[in-house]
Amino acid sequence: DETALQEHFERRVAGEERIEPRDWVPEGYRKTLVRQIAQHAHSEIIGMQPEGNWITRAPSLRRKAILLAKVQDEAGHGLYLYSAAETLGVDRSELTDKLIDQRQKYSSIFNYPTLNFADIGVIGWLVDGAAICNQVPLCRSSYGPYARAMVRICKEESFHQRQGYELLMTMMRGTPEQREMVQDATDRWWWPSLMMFGPPDGDSPNTQQSMAWRIKRHTNDELRQKFVDMTIPQAEALGVTLPDPDLRWNDERGHYDFGEPDWSELKRVISGDGPCNEQRIARRREAHEDGAWVREAAAAHAAKQAAREEV
Ligand code: ACO
Repeated sequence: DETALQEHFERRVAGEERIEPRDWVPEGYRKTLVRQIAQHAHSEIIGMQPEGNWITRAPSLRRKAILLAKVQDEAGHGLYLYSAAETLGVDRSELTDKLIDQRQKYSSIFNYPTLNFADIGVIGWLVDGAAICNQVPLCRSSYGPYARAMVRICKEESFHQRQGYELLMTMMRGTPEQREMVQDATDRWWWPSLMMFGPPDGDSPNTQQSMAWRIKRHTNDELRQKFVDMTIPQAEALGVTLPDPDLRWNDERGHYDFGEPDWSELKRVISGDGPCNEQRIARRREAHEDGAWVREAAAAHAAKQAAREEV
């Protein structure tokens, strides 16, 4: 009966066993995973836009090839994640509809504009750096298909992060104007990057249950702190200043102290009122509609193939 199934499930989770698609799971577990994996997949797909903006204007053939490959990787990440979500009994087309009708979220970070080429480097350094911090522990998420998707995604994210840092190092060795561009991009992306980890723990309705189910392995604040600690030495090596007067090493805690992000801004951006929300969704809808003929052709081909096999 249900209680026995529930107990068995909880014992397996507590014993660090992987939950697989055919296993019995509580409805709340399934719903939470669909919510988180779909939001994660949508973030990868929407995240192609801010960088895609610079493919045609990359300053050299080398930078263009790198950026093109990176944006393609993101499409791939979205696809693995939609596939992982489909093992939970939802359909990718249904998830896409929910994204473009704004019934499902994607990461706040992708609602900020990319104003100059240094933004491409800073997205690699800070945004992909934050993504790695958040996602490496998800390789140990209790749900097998999600955890396994994360392994490959994290390897590629690490490469993206190094790519961004190398771009910024190159610009910092350039002209004073180039150094200013890097500082300006750092100033604009720092706080939104901290917000990627979600609301503070006291204001995060999902964390407790997701931790108990081992879907999430750390709280939002734990990961945010880890990101700050990891990033400060990188900023020093790069020679940029992070725009937070409260940043300082705290010997007692063994961590850096840092200022409070503007949580009202995060709420605004999540609820649809960020600088680029409308444009991001409009572009996604357009691309989906433009692709309708491809889906129709593929379906027609599959139907013909099936009919041929029946004969
Ligand atoms: N942007 C948009 N929405 C957010 C963000 C954010 N940065 N942070 C939190 N939220 C949403 C949550 O989805 C939740 O909304 P919902 O209940 O309607 O779904 C609400 O705000 C409250 O937050 P939490 O209770 O803290 O939610 P949760 O436990 O899901 O934690 C987190 C949020 C940390 C983002 C988690 O879902 C997660 O780790 N996701 C996987 C990683 C991911 O999605 N990364 C995408 C960006 S990285 C990249 O693609 C390069």
